[in-house]
Amino acid sequence: MTAQLFPPARTTTVRAAAKINLHLGVGAARADGFHPLHTVYQAIGLYDDLTVEDAPTWGLTLDAADYIEATHVPLDGANIVDRAADLLAAHHGLPRLGAVSIAKEIPVAGGLAGGSADAAAALVALDRLWGAETSDEDLLALAARLGSDVPFALLGGTALGTGRGERVSPVADRGTWWWVAVPSVEGLSTPAVYRHFDALFPDAPATPAPADAVLGALAAGDPMLLAAALHNDLEPAALDLRPDLETLIARGEAAGALRGMVTGSGPTCVFLCASADHARDVAAALDDPVVLVANGPVAGAHLVEYV
Ligand code: C5P
Repeated sequence: MTAQLFPPARTTTVRAAAKINLHLGVGAARADGFHPLHTVYQAIGLYDDLTVEDAPTWGLTLDAADYIEATHVPLDGANIVDRAADLLAAHHGLPRLGAVSIAKEIPVAGGLAGGSADAAAALVALDRLWGAETSDEDLLALAARLGSDVPFALLGGTALGTGRGERVSPVADRGTWWWVAVPSVEGLSTPAVYRHFDALFPDAPATPAPADAVLGALAAGDPMLLAAALHNDLEPAALDLRPDLETLIARGEAAGALRGMVTGSGPTCVFLCASADHARDVAAALDDPVVLVANGPVAGAHLVEYV
């Protein structure tokens, strides 16, 4: 065997999924400005892949799907991936070194937690690259500091989120659910949607609406039950800011979807369908610039390649 002069660069790729909210109960803002949530997250098959490689410095690059406006993703040091790397490096007293590239399929500022997916993928990938062996408990705690949705991006599947969304626990889900997702060219700012919720609902209860109906439908695996139970307290605020979405939801339902709704803070709208074929039919009937089909639940941030 010939000796290698240079060891091959170690490369790790981690895949993280988009999330949708099947139930999003929002309470009145807390003293810290965040809103208490009862939410049911589901990870769906729409992914960002994050690849990390040994490097003498720190760098971040992006390769985005053609329907994504790449200029909306900061690459100047202000990306949530930079912050994830900073937190993990500081946690272990390590230097922040690595060449990171994001292959992005999850629409930006769409209510699908694409940034949170990237942050979760960065924690898992860099932990591996740096040999840091962070415990699951510590990874979840670091994730919660990065954003309310990041712990769920680690966990995946279908889960109940409480607190500001960062406390997650898996729930029984007997279905394979088929979704059509229609992102908008123009994103919506999550803080702006929450502020508009505050303006529209000054008397919002302190305790958010419970998720019982959605949890029952998931446990039963029944699409008609789930269609009737889907709930999003942020939807009125998102629709008020973006009245065009109301027409989109009506078009999707007219095309045969069991139910359409804004997901999270929007503006992406998701349409529940009864099967893969049904989802393809609904997608074909919608002539919007970007129409995606995905099923859920799928796994949280996970290693797909390691060299
Ligand atoms: O936690 P994350 O960074 O994703 O939150 C982004 C913004 O969304 C917050 O700054 C806040 O304005 C709003 N938010 C909220 N209540 C939550 C989650 C997010 O008001 N439970």
